[in-house]
Amino acid sequence: MAAQQVFGNVTTMAPRIVQSVGAASLPQVGQPIVTTRMAAPAAQSTILSQPTIVSQPTVIRPATTTIAAPQAATVISGAPQTVTYAQPVTYAAPQPVTYVQPAVYTQPAQPVAAAPVEPEGNFKVCVVGGAGGIGQPLSLLMAQCPMVAELAIIDLNVAMVPAAGVEADLSHIEGKCKVTSTVLTLNEDKAIDKAGDALTGCHLVLVPAGVPRKPGQDRKDLLNINCDIAKGTVEACAKYCPDAVVALIVNPVNSVVPAMCELWKKAGLDPRKIVGVTTLDIVRANKFVQEITGSPASIPVIGGHAGKTILPLFSQDPAGASIPAEMIPELDERVQNAGTEVVKAKNGKGSATLSMAYSGARLGKAVLSGLAGVPTVECAYVESNLFEGLPYFSSLVEFGPNGIQAVMDVGQLSEHETARLQELCPILQDEINDGLEYAQTHEFGQ
Ligand code: NAD
Ligand code: LMR
Repeated sequence: MAAQQVFGNVTTMAPRIVQSVGAASLPQVGQPIVTTRMAAPAAQSTILSQPTIVSQPTVIRPATTTIAAPQAATVISGAPQTVTYAQPVTYAAPQPVTYVQPAVYTQPAQPVAAAPVEPEGNFKVCVVGGAGGIGQPLSLLMAQCPMVAELAIIDLNVAMVPAAGVEADLSHIEGKCKVTSTVLTLNEDKAIDKAGDALTGCHLVLVPAGVPRKPGQDRKDLLNINCDIAKGTVEACAKYCPDAVVALIVNPVNSVVPAMCELWKKAGLDPRKIVGVTTLDIVRANKFVQEITGSPASIPVIGGHAGKTILPLFSQDPAGASIPAEMIPELDERVQNAGTEVVKAKNGKGSATLSMAYSGARLGKAVLSGLAGVPTVECAYVESNLFEGLPYFSSLVEFGPNGIQAVMDVGQLSEHETARLQELCPILQDEINDGLEYAQTHEFGQ
């Protein structure tokens, strides 16, 4: 694609870190990359220096194929069997208790497929806003993640549920994860003063803290209030966990991420750690394609996370590409407007929370897999030089031992996608500029 012709005054540049990839060779979203671009030796030594990582398998499978195969130990074939348990019986003299296992548990013996291999890790994760609409289910999902050994929840004293209650609740779930909580008093406490214990040692900080929109509002309407909230969190991360990956869910992502990343850079920190979470757009596109085609899909969604800046690349997935061209504009708009669909349906009581928690956990696990030495690809909105004039852009990103390891170019686009890319560039540019302006007029610590 001759991008220079496509974008008028927005021209393409060579991708910053990675090779160009054609549609046919695009890695699958959510899938670890098994190529020669696996972590470089230097990066590997970083991984090994992480004290708690035990072994590092080289491959994990995409979510769609990770259904646990029946374990040999649980397969019972043939006639019902008798199992004898010696159990103490409290109301009578100790006796052996006999259970006859019902035949319905019988399954045909199957070859046991290789169990999905997940990287091992003992990471510390913090969810800021962890007692909110997204924060609670996101905390649940992260507490269940086998790579997470410690989950710190931070929220305000005015949260819908006290953070200590979320901590107590999650602390009763089986598994190794230790849960803690920190409460900040609204308009009094600053994270930089009170959240040191929660943030110190974090590998990943997920940030849904912020105000959601109401029907009739645009994400842009949340710019100032949510940038101020995000700044309080990000400046505390800069102090207590400057090596953590900070994943910003809070809206408007298109502006909050440039604002926070520029402030982060002004503090001399590594921009590969700041990630804007757009995974929900991919999840939605995949779902809508599956509804139409009956096949699971893996649709990259590029650009940004608001209205027309959301560009699903249906042509880059076999199921998506099978959809007739005349249906694509409407499907594209459905993905663009899916957030508004949820805001309207919730009728003033917030925006997407459950699907966002699912998506945030998916992105979080991709980041942790990368940190654990299994480079993993997801779309994310990050600092980018794929397109001149768009210093932040969402595209496929490879996460590695240091956070963002590679930003992939957008591959081959259909005619519709090419026109849409041209359309989104000036809109995204304006929204990035809003964020850059915030960063110019604000400092950490003020
Ligand atoms: P919510 O109001 O239910 O929860 C937000 C939580 O953040 C609350 O518990 C609140 O007390 C807490 N909070 C506010 N300021 C804080 C601070 N300074 N420190 C710690 N905690 C703080 O809102 P929600 O539905 O969870 O949405 C949160 C944000 O996520 C909104 O900005 C929303 O627009 C955004 N969002 C983004 C996406 C996406 O795809 N990136 C999707 C859905 C929602
Ligand atoms: C979404 O896409 O659901 C979120 O960005 C929330 C919103 O305001 O639409």
